Amino acid sequence: MSNKVTFDGAPEPGTINFGVGQPSADLLPVELMRIAADDFLRSAQPIELNYGERQGDIRFLETLANFLVDGYGTSVTPESLFVTAGNSQALDFVCALFTRPGDTVIVEEPSYFLAFKIFADHGLNIVSIPVDDQGMDIDRLEQELRRTRPKMLYTIPSFHNPGGQSMSAARRIRLVELSREYDFLVVADEVYQLLWYDQAPPAALGTMAEEGNILSLGSFSKILAPGLRLGWIQTSPKLMARLLDSGAVNSGGSFNHFTSHIVRHAIDLGLQQTQLKDLRQTYRSRVQAMDTALNEHIGQLASWHRPEGGYFFWLKFSKAVDTTELRRQAGEYQTGFQPGENFSNKGGLRNYLRLSFAHYGEADIREGVARLGRLVRNL
Ligand SMILES: Cc1ncc(COP(=O)(O)O)c(C=O)c1O
Repeated sequence: MSNKVTFDGAPEPGTINFGVGQPSADLLPVELMRIAADDFLRSAQPIELNYGERQGDIRFLETLANFLVDGYGTSVTPESLFVTAGNSQALDFVCALFTRPGDTVIVEEPSYFLAFKIFADHGLNIVSIPVDDQGMDIDRLEQELRRTRPKMLYTIPSFHNPGGQSMSAARRIRLVELSREYDFLVVADEVYQLLWYDQAPPAALGTMAEEGNILSLGSFSKILAPGLRLGWIQTSPKLMARLLDSGAVNSGGSFNHFTSHIVRHAIDLGLQQTQLKDLRQTYRSRVQAMDTALNEHIGQLASWHRPEGGYFFWLKFSKAVDTTELRRQAGEYQTGFQPGENFSNKGGLRNYLRLSFAHYGEADIREGVARLGRLVRNL
């Protein structure tokens, strides 16, 4: 067997690289998947290996809707859900269906850096709006909307990547109003919505899908396993009709039919729910470990908010610190992070950096932050 199995961006041996935004191996549930897959395959009918319905297997959509009713605390109907191969694929798909090269997409500053590349693939023009601890600055958005006519707006409303903050309920409501007033699509990347550690964030934008031009993207990547490539879009009947009319699903059917059967069994057996509970507990302890270590080793040199969900700490340094430069020296200290500049569409945020606590246990978190402290102090 090859020992070369790896993933893009894997850390060098011996390095504790907090730039890696993927779960550690101990959190990837092989046994859970074996049980769910066995449960499915034992009674599988041949038709389940045929093409699936464009929107997704109806039994999966019903199970998913019930799971989201519990998770979101509001009603979710199977009719509002559409199966995807995860949020990256969903974002690319949405761009393909609803935009043309030269259209404008509004994003947050900072925003998820890999989304920039998807927008670039579609020739979109990116305009950014700053965020504060309540999410996107909606007054600034409104000013921008008076001069720019965006086709869509991309937001990460809950436990933002990289900022960690959640958009307030009031701003969510105002954003939906603005989307109707100025006629643009809101693409809400709700990948961390269910990954809260103490208290749920404000209601997902998906729960307002009936009222506005909303496409809410959800995924099993952060609550089960990224390798499943399974997610969903929650939207209104009008936008659903456009999704169902796409060439790709007309040709290939549901984007991830086979995996949706297995995940349906994982939910019906209660395994997904237990996994999510366990993840919350593990990540809550890691947040505590990283916060304590940062206070000890970085202390007054940076400021941050302790995240209440998601994967990330977002550190702000004084303007004199250039984290892009710092990143070049991080290898010598066997540590790593994502420099703030990656999350800006205009080369800004150079005095910020992002740390993920998903890829390392508490002992490595303490050691990696100690190394980071040495790197920062030796500037
Ligand atoms: C904000 C955001 N969107 C999308 C993704 C990728 O989602 P998926 O694995 O469902 O494609 C990530 C993963 O890091 C993310 O942080």
